[in-house]
Amino acid sequence: MNIYIDGKQTKVAPDETVLEACRKAGADIPSMCFAPGAEHKPSCMVCMVRNEDNGQMMPSCSTYPSEGMKIDTCSEEVQQTRKLAVELLLSDHRADCEAPCTIACPSGLDIGEMLCQYDKGNLKMARSILASAFSLTELPCDGCKGPCEKVCRRGTVDAHVQIKAIVKELAAMEDIPAEAKPELASRFSKEAFSSRLGMFSAAEKARLKESVTTKSTCLHCACLAKDGCTLRDVATALKIKTPRFGVSSLQPFKAARNITESLVYEPSKCIRCGLCVYNTKDGFTFRGRGFGMQVILPEESYSNVTEDIASLCPTGALSLEH
Ligand code: SF4
Ligand code: SF4
Ligand code: SF4
Ligand code: FES
Repeated sequence: MNIYIDGKQTKVAPDETVLEACRKAGADIPSMCFAPGAEHKPSCMVCMVRNEDNGQMMPSCSTYPSEGMKIDTCSEEVQQTRKLAVELLLSDHRADCEAPCTIACPSGLDIGEMLCQYDKGNLKMARSILASAFSLTELPCDGCKGPCEKVCRRGTVDAHVQIKAIVKELAAMEDIPAEAKPELASRFSKEAFSSRLGMFSAAEKARLKESVTTKSTCLHCACLAKDGCTLRDVATALKIKTPRFGVSSLQPFKAARNITESLVYEPSKCIRCGLCVYNTKDGFTFRGRGFGMQVILPEESYSNVTEDIASLCPTGALSLEH
């Protein structure tokens, strides 16, 4: 069968979707609720294309071609439709991609990751992250007003993490060898989309104050999936900086739980794409309807879930701890 993709005639098989056909022809169409080889139902509307014959937008992941069909994959109208779909997903997504302290550091130190390693007791890695951005003998912190501490979310709960003191403490641990690796210093990109969490409610502050037991008192704001999140990548590609409808969620911040030793489920980052629901047997399920709908995993179903489900999840809702 012949169809036209952005004006170019292309041979396609009738049993492949428009998304697959367009991708084979080189079109760059994003998708979130679709994964090759996995069961899916269209929900995200990020893969929209336009049928040039009737002007209708359609989800390419669940549309099959017909003879002579003319598909527009990249016009401004199509891009704006995808952008709207992503902004709607983000409007119910209350999470941080990067830790605010990392974004604020003028010297490019990945403070969030350094504190993660520090709290895990992995001091060699914490020092290596530090050494990759700073000289350990001439710390830029000495002449710095500490914007990282000013934006620290812990400060809105009780008192900010003593970031400058921890940097000094790590720098002084001369008996722990640090390896300066450029890739550790350059992971954060100002060009990438960053979802922002917003304010904590009084109840949330009380919960966080009680529940955070880390040595540094860090809330570990950054998302585990920040370097491999499809939602973030698509938002970046569509040049979304401040989503039109804000970012909020009924789900509490960091109410994450371990399903296996490494697999973590964090509901506030779930976009309810359904991939984990349709691709686990007696595992994840939907609860409720409409905007309040949630994806849940009853405790008795934990054993039906394997860690490879994280690779299907297009966000940081299901991720593997590293
Ligand atoms: S799930 Fe993706 S978009 Fe959301 S906070 Fe994590 S990295 Fe950012
Ligand atoms: S709580 Fe931790 S990760 Fe979050 S801003 Fe403060 S120091 Fe950074
Ligand atoms: S946990 Fe991930 S895969 Fe499951 S519905 Fe939410 S976003 Fe989709
Ligand atoms: S990828 Fe097509 S609707 Fe989600």
